Amino acid sequence: MKSKIKIAVVGLRFGAAFAPIYRDHPDVAEVAICDMNEAVLRDVGNSSGIARRFADFNDVLAAKDIDAVHLLTGIPDHAKQSIDAMNAGKHCACAIPMATSIADIKAIIAAKKQTGKSYMMMETHVYTRQFLFAKELVARGEFGRIQFLRGWHYQDMEGWVPYWAGLPPMWYAQHALAPLLAIAQARAVKVHCMGSGEMRKELHRQYGNPYPIESALFQLAVPGLCAEVTRSLFQCAYPGLDFIIYGDLASFDGQLHRQHPHVPGEFGRRLATERPELPDRTDLLPPSIARYTQSGMDGCFPHLVHEFMRSIMEERASAIDAVTSADWTAAGICAHESAMAGGREVVIPEF
Ligand SMILES: NC(=O)c1ccc[n+]([C@@H]2O[C@H](COP(=O)([O-])OP(=O)(O)OC[C@H]3O[C@@H](n4cnc5c(N)ncnc54)[C@H](O)[C@@H]3O)[C@@H](O)[C@H]2O)c1
Repeated sequence: MKSKIKIAVVGLRFGAAFAPIYRDHPDVAEVAICDMNEAVLRDVGNSSGIARRFADFNDVLAAKDIDAVHLLTGIPDHAKQSIDAMNAGKHCACAIPMATSIADIKAIIAAKKQTGKSYMMMETHVYTRQFLFAKELVARGEFGRIQFLRGWHYQDMEGWVPYWAGLPPMWYAQHALAPLLAIAQARAVKVHCMGSGEMRKELHRQYGNPYPIESALFQLAVPGLCAEVTRSLFQCAYPGLDFIIYGDLASFDGQLHRQHPHVPGEFGRRLATERPELPDRTDLLPPSIARYTQSGMDGCFPHLVHEFMRSIMEERASAIDAVTSADWTAAGICAHESAMAGGREVVIPEF
């Protein structure tokens, strides 16, 4: 039988939520934690009772007995650290985004192929209660023909750590886009995107991006199916993150459990609106980590941990393997390229 996994959680701000879930997962032999900020390392270690601690990621790479890493470090480090981890013989999970350039995406896929290690981009929004519920409805054919998909993510990143300042909105579009592509079970093949709004000049400096908001129309690899995504990161006083599946027979609006139902109009088909309870899907999880569906982000954290651990134990590709991660990430990179070219069509590479 395959032996249990020793995993290091690297980057302990957002990563703090994941360390105890690995600690309690039945496939895990040992959890180590790593953060170059000593106070963060100490606090997370003490609160989670995790004794094995690293202040330097290179020491994690050098630790021969560590089988896997989950990277929750800053965006600019994701690509290099993922490649270094796989080249050091470790399975690799990484917070979004996988990378911010097509060249880095290709390098990660190459490293994954060369090493045979499991790779998973930990996209939270394909494991939320809303998404798991909608996925079941799609599998049962409740929507009829899916006619259109729409996602959005408005978040104000003013004052966050410096690498955020002026980030092209579509480089971080996965939360809005991935649920749509996962529901359609298709990649995006081309995109037209427009930038909108005006952003303070100092926010242009880091990435040469002038847009606080970008809105994109993607053609999917399904005949006659498009998806639209709008994303903002700065100077837009509106928060929100959700998706809508528009079907011939029924639609799913992820906001409905937060808002009042629509009132049917006078003309057209009579449309009923329901607001079903969204189950927690703890039935998909080992009992020891089921309670972590309550620890935030619509219940997704333990599902991600479980899928990554199972992919390693079952020696199979993870549900968000390198090619799927690439599809979900490259679409946003190409969307920003389109916005910078005034909305011209950009063909998204196939990996
Ligand atoms: N829903 C989601 O999927 C979601 C939500 C929040 C953040 N994120 C992603 O997760 C990542 C982490 O987010 P955050 O807000 O905690 O970021 P952050 O930059 O605030 O914190 C990163 C942490 O990693 C540590 N770190 C950075 N480089 C390191 C290194 N080389 N070795 C050891 N420690 C290192 C830092 O000291 C810090 O504690 C980001 O990439 C972000 O994009 C995803």
